[in-house]
Amino acid sequence: MRWTTISFLLFLMACKTYTNTSNVNREQPMSTIDKKIDALLAKMTLTEKVGQMIQYNGFYDATGPQPRGGDAARKYEHLRSGKVGSMLNVRGVDQVRAVQEIAVEETRLGIPLIIGFDVIHGYETQSPIPLAEAASWDLDAIENSAKVAAAEAAAAGINWTFAPMVDITRDARWGRVMEGAGEDPYYGSLVAAARVKGFQGDDLAQPNTIAACAKHFAGYGWSESGREYNTVDVGTSTLYNMILPPFKAAKDAGVKTFMNSFNDLNGIPATGDEFLLRDILKGAWKFDGFVVSDWDSIGEMYEHGYAANDAEAAMFAANAGCDMDMESYTYVEHLENLVNEGKVNEAHIDEAVRRILRVKFELGLFDDPYKYCSKEREQTIIGHESHHEAVLDLAKKSIVLLKNERSLLPLKDNDSYLVIGQLAEDKTSPLGSWRLAAKDNTAVSVLEGIENVSGKPALFKKGVQLTTDKATFVYPVPINTTDRKDFAEAIKAAKNVDKVVMVLGEHGFQSGESRSRTRIGLPGLQQELLEEIYKVNKNIILVLMNGRPLTIDWAAEHVPSILETWHLGSQSGNAIAEVLFGKYNPSGKLPMSFPRHVGQVPIYYNQKRTGRPDQKDGNVFFSHYSDEENTALYPFGHGLSYTWFEYRNLRVEVLGKTEVKVTVDLQNMGGLDGEEVAQLYIRDVAASVIRPKKELKGFQKVFLKAGEAKKLEFTLTENELGFFDNRGNFKVEPGEFHLKVGGSSENGIWSGFHLD
Ligand code: BGC
Repeated sequence: MRWTTISFLLFLMACKTYTNTSNVNREQPMSTIDKKIDALLAKMTLTEKVGQMIQYNGFYDATGPQPRGGDAARKYEHLRSGKVGSMLNVRGVDQVRAVQEIAVEETRLGIPLIIGFDVIHGYETQSPIPLAEAASWDLDAIENSAKVAAAEAAAAGINWTFAPMVDITRDARWGRVMEGAGEDPYYGSLVAAARVKGFQGDDLAQPNTIAACAKHFAGYGWSESGREYNTVDVGTSTLYNMILPPFKAAKDAGVKTFMNSFNDLNGIPATGDEFLLRDILKGAWKFDGFVVSDWDSIGEMYEHGYAANDAEAAMFAANAGCDMDMESYTYVEHLENLVNEGKVNEAHIDEAVRRILRVKFELGLFDDPYKYCSKEREQTIIGHESHHEAVLDLAKKSIVLLKNERSLLPLKDNDSYLVIGQLAEDKTSPLGSWRLAAKDNTAVSVLEGIENVSGKPALFKKGVQLTTDKATFVYPVPINTTDRKDFAEAIKAAKNVDKVVMVLGEHGFQSGESRSRTRIGLPGLQQELLEEIYKVNKNIILVLMNGRPLTIDWAAEHVPSILETWHLGSQSGNAIAEVLFGKYNPSGKLPMSFPRHVGQVPIYYNQKRTGRPDQKDGNVFFSHYSDEENTALYPFGHGLSYTWFEYRNLRVEVLGKTEVKVTVDLQNMGGLDGEEVAQLYIRDVAASVIRPKKELKGFQKVFLKAGEAKKLEFTLTENELGFFDNRGNFKVEPGEFHLKVGGSSENGIWSGFHLD
């Protein structure tokens, strides 16, 4: 029987009420849940226990290569015989109910499935891509975005998202930078916690919250050369101070699950790394949720050259502490035998199952396995108007004004302007990558936004088509690399207007998983078009749409106004138009540095100091390039406003061994109301492990009316003043510190203090 037929029949049977006898009250303390788990575990056979550790893909929406032997009939059989604990990519109330009914009604113990899905920046209603959201520096809005995403996903039957991705990213060649919060571990930790809280809420058992997953544990953002799935080799200082903090923050925020990463870390595949999983995560951090592998990452330990065969891969993963196998089939094939042969201790299996069952209990799935399966909720909640309001709010906040000479922006009422660029009418690209449940062509395009906000249609010239990366089986996209047929008309039209708005950048699927690029400038013919238009009209407003920092050095030098608008989600065009027309004063700041040239990558603001930082005696022997500056084109924390801000009177007071109070006056000096992200950086001048040149240790997003001034206060405690040594011990060392407060990692006013 084909799967679609099976699910239809199952759907018809779905009217039956749930009769499983479990009556765990979700208000009960954990110890009660533990007793329930013990009781259930005692009834389970080894086969059923291993079954809880298996996660199968739901026959569509594959997000990785198709695994060996994963046919639907076999999966269905396994589902019926209690050999499956979770499914991913099954979505929609009918589909979820169909698989849940098999688990609950047909298996011996009726243990419900946990249903996972990549709810990355929204379910159907899309928020800006996560990197863009991070540019808002608005933690409440970010938390709210995750809340909206959770509400929609839960209404579609899902109870577990594979988000947030908390990998710190420094290499714009890596396509997945769009999925994280950028390059800074302090800010990344706060964003990680906000996202976890948004998804999980205060009570996981509520029908509008879902379990979150901190991924990819660990080091994936350091994939060598920015090449996807590549090897990772990092020192302990980087591991403890840069890579792990956001994971720890997610754990502290109560995240229920972790996901392994595809990479090896210093020669050990992360999926089989006992140091990461048992020593750090489940040991030192006392994480009590469960760990899921990444897609086939257990099986891939064979390709890594770590496991000699699939059985060994399963053994390494289970012993290391990977609790659930996503789609590698190695657990289902080998785990039971491995226990019988004494190669995997049954206590490891019990521990994994306990962890998985605990999350199912906490989700309330034993109270009612169909609690996420209400047709009414599905119809009323998904795409709700209030969700569009929330994503529009965040989309506006995520826009970064990179440059604005001659106050070209905002557009004035009597300006005549022309819009150029295929992305201006694109209603899919703004949805960005990782938007599996969004409908194509549903984003508000820039042209529609202009029409909505100005009340008048924009004059539009197509100008150029995009080139895209190689089509893949997941998201085939059109490829067009050589079409200049619209150039002449666009150039002619550009001569006769005051200003030209050029919407250029990346197609929505040019970033994301497996979209690494070596050339990170404007793809295809767009750079050529930009330069051609510039020859006839210098008043260009460049609206960038992209999922990663791009090399736009030519534009930065020539084009007077540049707006970074990323992929802003469902309300993209409305948000962009509000900024273009000055209805919203941009307030975003970059969460990741923009390089001048790809040769500088990885480039990030919090670099360590070298022994030869500056030129001495005019010689060449200092840390630099012969052909390019060291600095970023646009650094971390950079972002302008239609008004401007001044920082004055920086005062630093040491209150104790590990407490420092900082105050500064901030004034809006321009004629418009606006928001500023005031950022505080420190430099530990000399330490037992070298500290970065600067480290963000505080920020405040402040609204100031035109001319208004406010005194801002920051407190630095042990958490901000300390660091991890190379054994993973956290310490604060006495000595000299420099401190800076300003509007970016490059600007600001400096002071200092001394810790005794
Ligand atoms: C990705 C994960 C994702 C999983 C399931 C993998 O390819 O690396 O981040 O959650 O697929 O779709």
